[in-house]
Amino acid sequence: MTLQTLIVERHDAVTLVRLNRPEALNALNGQLMDELTAVLDETEADPTVRCVVITGSDRAFAAGADIKEMASKSYAEVFTEDFITRNWERVTRCRKPVVAAVAGYALGGGCELAMMCDFIIAADNAKFGQPEINLGVIPGAGGTQRLTRFAGKSKAMDMILTARMMDAGEAERCGLVSRVVPLAELISTAMEAAAKIAALSPNSVMIAKELVNAAYETPLSQGVKTERRLFHSLFAFDDQKEGMAAFVEKRPAKFTGK
Ligand code: CAA
Repeated sequence: MTLQTLIVERHDAVTLVRLNRPEALNALNGQLMDELTAVLDETEADPTVRCVVITGSDRAFAAGADIKEMASKSYAEVFTEDFITRNWERVTRCRKPVVAAVAGYALGGGCELAMMCDFIIAADNAKFGQPEINLGVIPGAGGTQRLTRFAGKSKAMDMILTARMMDAGEAERCGLVSRVVPLAELISTAMEAAAKIAALSPNSVMIAKELVNAAYETPLSQGVKTERRLFHSLFAFDDQKEGMAAFVEKRPAKFTGK
């Protein structure tokens, strides 16, 4: 597929995906979401890719779903084409880790896309918001559910009902983002985190990711029980023997995914 709305770069075992519609502050239109789905399909199928970073520009991660494309759609159209569900949620089905590196605006669907990733590293100029209420609609790509789980009811209500934006510091304090870094260091920090993940045992990484995500859907006792079983299961892989032997022998581990 020839990509027109994304720039994809390969850095060793990490794929860096840049959302690239500068004329629309990276508004997420159908073409961009189709291309993102295709790129994530490819990275999932490629065993040499171990981690994905999604970013935008310094000015905008993404300013939401494309309002100009969406404005004239009828109910019949959005229902029949399964708008959002059809091509927005591929990132939530990735087994490999996906890091969002957010600078500038992450609004509406942009904030929702970032929240679909495994964690968010924000530049100090990042602004998060769910302003859909200003348009006579509501968040439609998971914002009412994910923001509430990450930031709590009061913050989610405040953001979604008033449409205000929060800055990077507030986003970090409320648990929406994992860390805030100067804008100039955003990509290097995200790529460093991704490279660290990419060098680990892919089995441990995938299982850890699966369990953290499951914590949102599972009662604590069940989640801990599943964690224990999967912890035990990792002893079936060579990587567990290698990781622990490397520690004892005071050398770097060489993980093979076996
Ligand atoms: N869709 C389409 N185009 C958009 C866009 C969007 N979400 N956001 C910005 N653009 C376009 C603008 O129309 C403008 O294009 P033109 O020059 O052709 O007019 C260009 O990007 C630059 O934007 P502005 O001139 O508005 O830039 P600004 O610096 O003055 O303001 C902004 C920046 C505050 C982010 C403002 O653009 C804005 O409020 N954008 C819309 C944010 C929004 O409402 N997002 C939610 C969308 S709905 C949604 O996402 C539904 C869902 O849950 C799935």
